[in-house]
Amino acid sequence: MKIKTETHSLEETDSLAKAFSKVVSAPMVILLNGDLGSGKTTFVKSLAKYLGSGDLVTSPTFTLLNIYNASVPIYHFDMYRLSSMEEAYAVGFEEYFDKSKLDGVCLVEWAENVDGLIKDVDYVINITKKDDFTRIFEILEEKK
Ligand SMILES: Nc1ncnc2c1ncn2[C@@H]1O[C@H](COP(=O)(O)OP(=O)(O)O)[C@@H](O)[C@H]1O
Ligand SMILES: [Mg+2]
Repeated sequence: MKIKTETHSLEETDSLAKAFSKVVSAPMVILLNGDLGSGKTTFVKSLAKYLGSGDLVTSPTFTLLNIYNASVPIYHFDMYRLSSMEEAYAVGFEEYFDKSKLDGVCLVEWAENVDGLIKDVDYVINITKKDDFTRIFEILEEKK
């Protein structure tokens, strides 16, 4: 699967997340790429909602990981502030990306900061800001 589309509002991004939520199931690893303010966390907010979570979704910039209750557990990572790979291993991140152990869905912002750690990826979502309200979403299904 490969989808490339533009959203022109928060409502359209929400609708895209709703459509995408239908292909999401556990165990799954999804990477979200894009500059600061492109809309990664905004997309995760909607996706968590459509996966049945009533939890407040916030950016895990300082905690590195937020966990939400949903139809399956959601592990929301933000590796932006990660200073070293040692830090990643120290907190046991690689456990979450081991499909044989994963009981939920991993949604990862700034995965490029742990390059090499995440091997078994299901989807990559590239988000580009075009103007204030327009975002280009490219959703790529990774081949096994
Ligand atoms: N079409 C759109 N889709 C998603 N976010 C949008 C859109 N238009 C404007 N925005 C705004 O862009 C910002 C995206 O911020 P955020 O999701 O935190 O980005 P990131 O997590 O990539 O740093 C939010 O303030 C959001 O309201
Ligand atoms: Mg974010």
